[in-house]
Amino acid sequence: MKNVNDLEYWENIYLSNDTGWDLGAATPYIEKISDEIKKGKVIILGCGRGYDAVMLAKKGFEVTAVDFSPSAIKFLNNLAYQQGVLVKIIQKDIFSLIDNYEGHFDYVIEQTCFCAIDLKRRSEYELLVNKLLKVKGQLIGLWFPIGKEVAEGGPPFGVSIDEIKLLFSKRWSILREEYSNLSIEKRKNREKIIIFEKQ
Ligand SMILES: C[S@@+](CC[C@H](N)C(=O)[O-])C[C@H]1O[C@@H](n2cnc3c(N)ncnc32)[C@H](O)[C@@H]1O
Repeated sequence: MKNVNDLEYWENIYLSNDTGWDLGAATPYIEKISDEIKKGKVIILGCGRGYDAVMLAKKGFEVTAVDFSPSAIKFLNNLAYQQGVLVKIIQKDIFSLIDNYEGHFDYVIEQTCFCAIDLKRRSEYELLVNKLLKVKGQLIGLWFPIGKEVAEGGPPFGVSIDEIKLLFSKRWSILREEYSNLSIEKRKNREKIIIFEKQ
């Protein structure tokens, strides 16, 4: 029985190289926004093979990248080594970080992690990112897949803008909201950028 809470579920996808989400390179939108924001401490949750982690580290961000799949982490370790950059790489369940990095980060990068976790854990995710960030820290979210019904199953599990805004309504304000033509072709208009700031 598949269970997205288990690392084995994700590890098997990496082992069978069925990683349809993997861009094989840094994400164009994240690359662009990294030139517009102040350098600082960034955490990438469910970082996968970690191209964005390496790109951000090259640009001078202090990067922490977290994923529980051993294969993804091994790939990222090699990539960071080859590229000669320092990334703090953590092989753990993201939800286990909640008490260890309170108020530590300026930025959380969200890209296809929220849609990968169990639907029942979305409130827990909000709590996690809120705890990880400093006050005025930013959750830079590429929310995907917009318009997919949760009843269709997943991962990726559907995401609606109304749901996201409700989930992040209490302790956050919105700094930016847009569809971007930098989204990769198959995600265009199905991926919305919303940057939330922690109050
Ligand atoms: C859809 S993939 C996206 C990977 C990466 N963000 C990307 O865009 O290439 C989801 C990733 O989240 C990881 N993941 C899912 N649930 C996790 C959890 N609870 N703790 C740590 N990693 C998790 C998986 O191992 C997988 O690498």
